[in-house]
Amino acid sequence: MVFEILMTLTKVIWLLLPAYTPNNFAVILGGLKPMDFGKNFFDGRRILGDGKTFSGFFGGILGGILTANVQRIMEITFGVRIFSSLPFNEFFYLALALAFGSMFGDSMGSFLKRRLGFERGSRLPLVDQITFLIFALAFASLTKAFWELFGTVEVILALIITPILHLGVNFIAYKMKLKNVPW
Ligand code: CTP
Ligand code: MG
Repeated sequence: MVFEILMTLTKVIWLLLPAYTPNNFAVILGGLKPMDFGKNFFDGRRILGDGKTFSGFFGGILGGILTANVQRIMEITFGVRIFSSLPFNEFFYLALALAFGSMFGDSMGSFLKRRLGFERGSRLPLVDQITFLIFALAFASLTKAFWELFGTVEVILALIITPILHLGVNFIAYKMKLKNVPW
């Protein structure tokens, strides 16, 4: 029983790595031109803010796709069949949907934060930790591969463990001085 739960948890984290890693790539590769070109919305606040840059957005997506491909190679090397059980094109669409959805959702989270009056880099529990996942899963659900690899249990577990993992990973990134704040 405990073994099954641990296996399912590991599988969910493995499936979501292409959605988790884009933000880390964005932190490293971001910082150039802001995606809202420095412009304000109707409410006089920034549309997205200086924390959402083109280099971060596209670097994040490429990073997520790279992660998925490394995972697939690792699976083939060690004889595990999750991503590698799929034809390459199906796998690739899933990886793209998870990575794109993750960065798109991250931007939607910032859009929402600005509308609520939260400054760039401020902390907004749940929006910071779950918006990216909801969009990643939504885009992923448009692919055939999603329905082959994700079941109801996986999706529910994803929604529960992601905020916890997200806080943990960001805390490590903060300790490694990759991020200025621990969230
Ligand atoms: N980043 C980026 N482009 C993106 C996403 C992230 O350049 N599309 C970089 C930015 O340097 C950003 C850092 O990654 O500051 C951390 O990302 P995140 O926490 O999402 O941004 P915040 O700065 O906290 O801004 P916000 O309040 O809008 O979430
Ligand atoms: Mg932040």
